[in-house]
Amino acid sequence: MSRSKLGKYAAIAKMDNVYERNPVHKGEWSKTHFGNENDIVLELACGKGDYARGLAEIFSNKNFIGVDLKGNRIYTAANLAKKGELNNIAFIREQIDHLPEYFAENEISEIWITFPDPFLKNSKRNKRLTSPKFVEVYRQFLKKEGFVHLKTDSLSLYEYTKEIIEELKLKTIKDYPDIYAMDKQESELHNIQTYYEKKHLEDRRTIMYLCFQID
Ligand SMILES: C[S@@+](CC[C@H](N)C(=O)[O-])C[C@H]1O[C@@H](n2cnc3c(N)ncnc32)[C@H](O)[C@@H]1O
Repeated sequence: MSRSKLGKYAAIAKMDNVYERNPVHKGEWSKTHFGNENDIVLELACGKGDYARGLAEIFSNKNFIGVDLKGNRIYTAANLAKKGELNNIAFIREQIDHLPEYFAENEISEIWITFPDPFLKNSKRNKRLTSPKFVEVYRQFLKKEGFVHLKTDSLSLYEYTKEIIEELKLKTIKDYPDIYAMDKQESELHNIQTYYEKKHLEDRRTIMYLCFQID
């Protein structure tokens, strides 16, 4: 491992807006980390946390937590949040499967999943972040009828997710097959672009969006 990666790992261990294999706030994030009762929204597979930071700037009346397993990306995300003086955002470096160790039942209001790896091979379908396995993970801490938002450039993942919504009898709230071809603009959808979204737009890829409820 490079020296710079090791340095970043050491740095995030000391940051007060990053948690790593340390589920100390389960059931108490409002009280013991954020110090207010505002809704808590997750960004999963957050990479450098672009979406969570964008949302935290628009919605100062909500709290945000970005989750990714890559330490160097979480390091960048947490530093940018500090630079932006965003106090309504924290980060967890962890496998998403382990999140029920971090959050109690009904602790989370919404989940954003931004440009996750589509895991196209059928043998890897359980790794897709909208697979039934992950829906069951989210159900353990998402409020009843809480929203899951998926933004993706992968037609396969978009269509797969629609199949899962139908199979699990979940409720589709919004289904936009090409967000930049729409007449209406939604600030939280159109005004924030992640690192990967920008790359996909440069490659002229179509960006799709689904919002569904887990009951
Ligand atoms: C293609 S990147 C997208 C990053 C960011 N959302 C963006 O749009 O720029 C996918 C991210 O998902 C993370 N990831 C994939 N599976 C994960 C898992 N099971 N738990 C935590 N992070 C995961 C990877 O580490 C990677 O940073």
